[in-house]
Amino acid sequence: HRAQRAEEALQQAQAELAHVTRVTTMGELAASIAHEINQPLAAIVADANACLNWLEADRANLDDVRAALVAIVKDGDRAAEVITRIRALLSRSTVAHEPCDLARVIRGVHPLVRPELGRHGITLEMSLATDVPAVMGDRVQLQQVLLNLVTNAAEAMREVPPQRRRLVVRSTVEDRDDGPWAVVAVEDAGIGFGKDEAASLFDAFYTTKPGGLGMGLSISRSIIEGHGVRLWGTANADHGATFHFALPGIAPSADCGRAR
Ligand SMILES: Nc1ncnc2c1ncn2[C@@H]1O[C@H](COP(=O)(O)OP(=O)(O)OP(=O)(O)O)[C@@H](O)[C@H]1O
Ligand SMILES: [Mg+2]
Repeated sequence: HRAQRAEEALQQAQAELAHVTRVTTMGELAASIAHEINQPLAAIVADANACLNWLEADRANLDDVRAALVAIVKDGDRAAEVITRIRALLSRSTVAHEPCDLARVIRGVHPLVRPELGRHGITLEMSLATDVPAVMGDRVQLQQVLLNLVTNAAEAMREVPPQRRRLVVRSTVEDRDDGPWAVVAVEDAGIGFGKDEAASLFDAFYTTKPGGLGMGLSISRSIIEGHGVRLWGTANADHGATFHFALPGIAPSADCGRAR
């Protein structure tokens, strides 16, 4: 009888474990979708509200309305692309990696974060070395990572003195044994993180923010690991934190991002 009870207990434990795993995956899926879709959704709502206000006016400027509608379509497309990528990430199928020009990916993030940075008096500096090699990757996913890192950097600087609110996105070349690598770093002068915190930063649902989901870094790490490399964070010597990733360069002749 004892053996039978042990067997039953084991089965019960396994069933529970399977359930917990499923629930966690569902929770993480829901959280990633919420996290990544929030930004384009907020932009869509803001633009749609602007349109409504303009149309209320006696003589609406249709060019403004048209521009806002174009932005809405673009943000809707971006949200749909993000969903596609999240599904690929969760089904562990690989998204197609193609030659990417990192400078272009980095520049593409600026219009997305400009309003938010402006609201908090944060200046964004882009320091992009001209000889950075093209890399193999997924443009949308890499942009998503940068967006998450820049958002975190901006959030870390909200409470610091205004003159310290400077954010730098850097791309540099590093010569390694197997050739040149592209290194990307997002550097802030914010509140930073302590030694004890460093180990948890990338955990799903780890957050120190009142409204935070704690998904940004966890998603970003999965994406970067999906590119076969690492995402890591370091505490700056003076203030703030820097998050980095590096990707191996591909031959310069490759067709860079022209195939879109
Ligand atoms: N640049 C940074 N400087 C200091 N701490 C940071 C920085 N980036 C992340 N962290 C710490 O790591 C935690 C997890 O970051 P993560 O992006 O995963 O979640 P979050 O920003 O809290 O919420 P969200 O799901 O909205 O991104 C943050 O709550 C913060 O404590
Ligand atoms: Mg975040």
